[in-house]
Amino acid sequence: MSNKVYVTREIPKIGLDILSKYFEVEVNKKNRPLTKDELISKIKGKDAVLTQLTDQIDKEVLEKADTVKIFANYAVGYNNIDIEFAEKRKIIVTNTPEVLSDTTAELAWALLFAVSRRVVEGNNYVRKGKWKQFSPKLLLGQDINNKTLGIIGAGRIGKAFAKKSIGYDMEILYHNRSRDMEFEKEYNAKWVDMDTLLNKSDFISLHVPLTDETYHLIGKNELDNMKKTAILINTSRGAVIDEEALVKALENEKIWGAGLDVFENEPVVHNKLLDMDNVVLLPHIGSASTETRDKMAKIAANNIVQVLNGKDPISQVK
Ligand code: DGY
Repeated sequence: MSNKVYVTREIPKIGLDILSKYFEVEVNKKNRPLTKDELISKIKGKDAVLTQLTDQIDKEVLEKADTVKIFANYAVGYNNIDIEFAEKRKIIVTNTPEVLSDTTAELAWALLFAVSRRVVEGNNYVRKGKWKQFSPKLLLGQDINNKTLGIIGAGRIGKAFAKKSIGYDMEILYHNRSRDMEFEKEYNAKWVDMDTLLNKSDFISLHVPLTDETYHLIGKNELDNMKKTAILINTSRGAVIDEEALVKALENEKIWGAGLDVFENEPVVHNKLLDMDNVVLLPHIGSASTETRDKMAKIAANNIVQVLNGKDPISQVK
C-alpha cells in the first residue's frame, strides 16, 4: 500500500506531481487554511504532511500525529511548528531554505524603494486624478544613494539583501549574534551593536527568524533610537516588531516611514497602518515569485520523498 501524504494548501503543480508519482496525495482545495480541528482530522493516518506557515503545528496537533513521519513546511521560517516537541515525538520537520533568499531580498528592496520614493502614494495620486501639473515640491522622497543601510540578521536573506545594495554606494552596517568575516570583507559591511545600528542607519531591514529572543525586538526604545528620517523594512515575521509601538512612532513622526510585508496578527493589519501614507503594506509575498514558489514546492515534496523512502531529508530543521 502506498504512503499517504496530506497537503494543507494547494502548491505549484511541480511539487504535487513529484508527490503523486510515489504516494496517495490529498490536497486541501479550500481557498483558506484549515481550522485546527480540520487539520487534526485530515492528518489522521497520513505518513507525511506538507504544511504552510499558517498551520499551527503545536503540541496538540503533534500529539495526534501518530502516523506522521515528516512535516515539510513550505517556507524557510518554521515558527509555526513546535520543533522541540516534534523532535521528542521523532517527527522530522523540514523547511525550504536558500531558494527564496534572493526573492525575499528583492521584495525588501521593492519596499525600500517604494517607501523612500513614495511610489505607492504617487501611483494613487495619478489614478485618483489629482495630478494637474508638474509641481516642484510634489511627493518629495529620500535618496538611497550614499546612505547607510542597517541590516538586522545576516543570514542568507540578510546577506542577499546586502548584496543588492551594490551600485548604490551605501555604507553597510549589520547586527547579528555572531560576526561573519567573509561577509564583512565581501561587502565592506561593518558589525555594530544594536544601538549603533539603530541610530546610524537611514534604512533598517529586518532579516531574523521569529524566536523567543527576537519577539518584539523592535519596540518603543528601539524606534526612539532611530533617526527621524529612518525607514524600517520588515519581510521577516510580523511579531519581530511591536506593531503598536510602530504605529505610535509613525504617528508621532519618530521615524519617516515603513515597508511591511508581514504583520503581528496576519492577515489582520493594525487599522491605523491602513490610513497612513508613509507606510507600504504587502500581504506576505516575500517569496512569491513563480520561479521561487516552484523551487519551494520541489524541495518540500522531495523532502517527503526522501523521508518516506527511509533517506535523510534535504533540509531538516534542527
Ligand atoms: C518564508 O518562507 O518563511 C516566507 O515568509 C514565506 O513566504
